[in-house]
Amino acid sequence: MCGIFGYTGEKTSPSLFISGLSRLEYRGYDSCGLAAILNGKVFLKKRSGKIHQLKKDLRKNRNIKIPICILHTRWATHGSPNKVNAHPHTDCKKEIAIVHNGIIENYLQLKNELIKKGHKFISQTDTEVIAHLIENFYNDSSKTEITLEKAVLKAVKKLKGSFSLGVISKKDPEKLIAVRKGSPLIIGIGKNRSFLASDIPALLAFVSKVIYLGDEEIAILVKEKIKVINFKGEEIRPEIEDVKIKLEEADKRGLEHFMLKEIFEQPKVIRKIFSSYHPAEGFNFPELRFSKDYLKELDKIYITACGTAYHAGYVAKYFLEKYCGLDVEIDVSSEFRYRRLNLKKDSLVIAISQSGETADTLASVREAKTKGAKILSLCNVMGSSLVKESDSVIFTLAGPEISVASTKTYTAQVFCLYLFSLFLGKLKKSLSEETIGRILKELEKIPFYQEEILKESWKVRKIANRFSRFGSFLFLGRGINYPSALEGALKLKEISYIPAEGYPAGEMKHGPIALIDEYRAIVCIALKDELHEKMISNMQEAKARKGKILALINDNDDQASSLSHNVIYIPQVLNQDLSPLLVAVCLQLFAYFVAKKRKCEIDQPRNLAKSVTVE
Ligand code: M6R
Repeated sequence: MCGIFGYTGEKTSPSLFISGLSRLEYRGYDSCGLAAILNGKVFLKKRSGKIHQLKKDLRKNRNIKIPICILHTRWATHGSPNKVNAHPHTDCKKEIAIVHNGIIENYLQLKNELIKKGHKFISQTDTEVIAHLIENFYNDSSKTEITLEKAVLKAVKKLKGSFSLGVISKKDPEKLIAVRKGSPLIIGIGKNRSFLASDIPALLAFVSKVIYLGDEEIAILVKEKIKVINFKGEEIRPEIEDVKIKLEEADKRGLEHFMLKEIFEQPKVIRKIFSSYHPAEGFNFPELRFSKDYLKELDKIYITACGTAYHAGYVAKYFLEKYCGLDVEIDVSSEFRYRRLNLKKDSLVIAISQSGETADTLASVREAKTKGAKILSLCNVMGSSLVKESDSVIFTLAGPEISVASTKTYTAQVFCLYLFSLFLGKLKKSLSEETIGRILKELEKIPFYQEEILKESWKVRKIANRFSRFGSFLFLGRGINYPSALEGALKLKEISYIPAEGYPAGEMKHGPIALIDEYRAIVCIALKDELHEKMISNMQEAKARKGKILALINDNDDQASSLSHNVIYIPQVLNQDLSPLLVAVCLQLFAYFVAKKRKCEIDQPRNLAKSVTVE
């Protein structure tokens, strides 16, 4: 997955484009580049590494003003992250330049065919084939008049896989062509100018109206003029939407990292979700389009998601089962899509995804739909592929999440699912009004408890500094906080690169206990819930083997405290089912401060990208 940015309009300094592209760097940061039409030629600048390098290079061309261009920031799939493989890619004559996000599955076959026709390739990417394919149709001598968009249309029909593209050509120097199939692309509508970008944050500084290009659609942009056609070549009327996000929301606001900013935003996000989906009385999920009768009759739910979103679904499994009397099956999407699940017509599948572009989750949804299942998605990004392909949606309302490590969207997903489970429990009468009222009261207090934790973040920092010297971690939890342990371990490993495993504490004795010695840090989630005593026994077992225990405990828990080297206090909620919303904040801070102490690249960890649009 990569980031695409494009511009057509008045001649403008490259710094504007760099600022747009920089807001997409979370999508990949292996290499970057720009192509523009300048003085009748394709002007090309590419770099391996991050965008600031490209910015430096372009300073040498300080005086250039660009009327039309495409830019790219890359997460490498085919070919190493060097300058040659960086986008934009060009055709043989360097007359056409393209940027691409996605994967071309049949590129080898196409490449061989084009080589036979005399095309010369210079990179190992799948992308370069698209430039040559467009060249092939554009220069087809049997057709006297072929426009750039027609050549692009012919080319994309030959491509298998998912792709969004930006295309320019010196032969049609005013046109910026945008293509979407399976990967996101948004058109920004400006005054005397238009933009394209893979995600909204890149457009916030420039436009207030956008078009979410639909699947298998092509936009032809000439300054402010926008024409959209489908893959059949028919013109269509796109829906123009207001941008609902503010620029400040996608800004670090003086903080060192987006991750820290996003951790601190959680109470605000939770309040927004609560007031939106539980206004005064009752529940209100505006995009939940299933009939009450359908929901009432449900006896089983399937959940599919990846990474952090999977952990959110795992927490939800516990309370959906408890509050709604449902069977809940959950799988990571890369397994879900290949399992022979007994999905029937009208089975409900909940797909959870921050980006709504995760390839495995989308594939699961498509697979489930072939069996007649209905899809409810929890998603943070309007206009994403998942939203477009779902029957119903609950938006997680967390605002843009820029840091690669998910934080606020995790608690937002869990919180939305709590509200949904209460709504379902009410419909199915598996929960009494009184119980629902009681849980709602506690849910409303969650932001206050989170604020308590955030106020004391300096304490977590002190402990994290101490623990940052450990070479490996085990995170242990039980019951509803077992997925919290999984999430805590994921957060730590992805941003600090320390090997960390999440485990159900009761399972330790079946193998993992062999790992424990004085060099192993063990993070135990040991809150005063129904499994507290069991957790204490597991901590004793770990301590007896000299493991260094950091415990997350409630106040006045001398027993757990005496077994631990350090403790972090978690506010006691009346209903411990809600504790994952607090534990998460604590473990996010812990991972953040460990990574900071180890001087890691927190917002852009190595080898990762924010949304994984490849299998
Ligand atoms: O956009 P999605 O929620 O579908 O992404 C799923 C995972 O790739 C994502 O949660 C990933 O695990 C995060 N980087 C973890 O912090």
